[in-house]
Amino acid sequence: MTGVKQPNWLRFIPSGDAIERAETDHTVVSLLSSRNGTEVIHHELQSGCSWAIAPQKDWNELETVYLLSGKLRYASGDLQGILRPGDTLSCEPASEFIIFTAVEQTSFLYICSNYVFHHYSESTRQFYKLAIEIAEKDGYTAQHCERIRRLSVLIGEKMGLSTTELFSLSYGAFFHDIGKINVPDEILLKPGRLSPEEFDIIKQHTIYGRDILNSSPLPYLAQGSYIAEQHHERYDGSGYPYALKGDQISIGAAIVAVVDSYDAMISNRPYQGAKSKSAAIEEILSLRGKLYHPRVVDTFLEAIREYTDPA
Ligand SMILES: [Fe+2]
Repeated sequence: MTGVKQPNWLRFIPSGDAIERAETDHTVVSLLSSRNGTEVIHHELQSGCSWAIAPQKDWNELETVYLLSGKLRYASGDLQGILRPGDTLSCEPASEFIIFTAVEQTSFLYICSNYVFHHYSESTRQFYKLAIEIAEKDGYTAQHCERIRRLSVLIGEKMGLSTTELFSLSYGAFFHDIGKINVPDEILLKPGRLSPEEFDIIKQHTIYGRDILNSSPLPYLAQGSYIAEQHHERYDGSGYPYALKGDQISIGAAIVAVVDSYDAMISNRPYQGAKSKSAAIEEILSLRGKLYHPRVVDTFLEAIREYTDPA
C-alpha cells in the first residue's frame, strides 16, 4: 500500500497496528475491523493465559475463533480439544461457557456478528481499576493475584470442575482479597500484633469483598463473589466469617484457601520471612483434613509439580 494514495473506502492496517487496542499484562486485544454489526478482533495471549466465550441470554450471534499461531486449549462441558494454526471453532451461538487457555504464546482472530469490542475494553478498564485498588491498598501486585488465579484454575481443572465453575473460580481467585480496600490502613498495615477488635475488622474483608464483587458493573465478577466471602473458611470449622465446615465451603473457596495460604507462606511478609517451597508444601500437607480440604490438598500436590509462575 505504500506510495499509493488510499481511497477513503479502503482501510489498510499495517501489522502491529489496530483501530483500537485493549491491553493487560498478558493479553493484547486489537480491533482490526468493525462494520454493520460485525467485528474482527485479534487476540494475543501469553502462555498460560485464559480467555472465555460466555453464553448470553437472547444472544443469537455467530462467534468464530481462527487460530493464527501457537496452541490454544479449549474446554466446554465435557468437550475438550486443542486448536492449532489454521483450525477454526465456531459457535452458533455459544450455549455453554467455552474457556480457552494458551498452551504457548498464541494469536488468533475472533470474529463476532455483533459489536463486542467496546464491552471488552470497558471490562478490561474496570478489571484493572479494581486490581490497582488492591495493589495500592495492600502492596499486593497484579502478579500475586495472577499467581493465585492460575494455580487455583489449574487445581480446579484437575478436580474436574465445570467450565462455569472454572470461570467463577478464575475471577474469584484473582479478586479474593478485594474487600481489603475497605479495611482502614492503620489496621491492615499494622506491623505488630492485632488486638481482637482489630482482627474482627480484618475478618470483615471477606464480607466487603463479596459485596464489592456483587455490585461490580461487570456481571461476571459477581459469579466469583462467594470465593471472596469464603476463602478464610477452614475445613474443620475454625475459619471465618461463618465458621463453615467441610463441604459447606464451596470447592472454589476451598481451592483458593490452600493456594492463598501457600502463596503467603512462600512470600516475605512484614511479620514473617518467606519459607522455602518444599517447607510450605510440607506444612499444607500436615494440615490436610484439618484446615484444608483433603481432596484439594491432594490435587494441589499434583498441580504444584507442573505449575510455573507467570512470566
Ligand atoms: Fe483474605
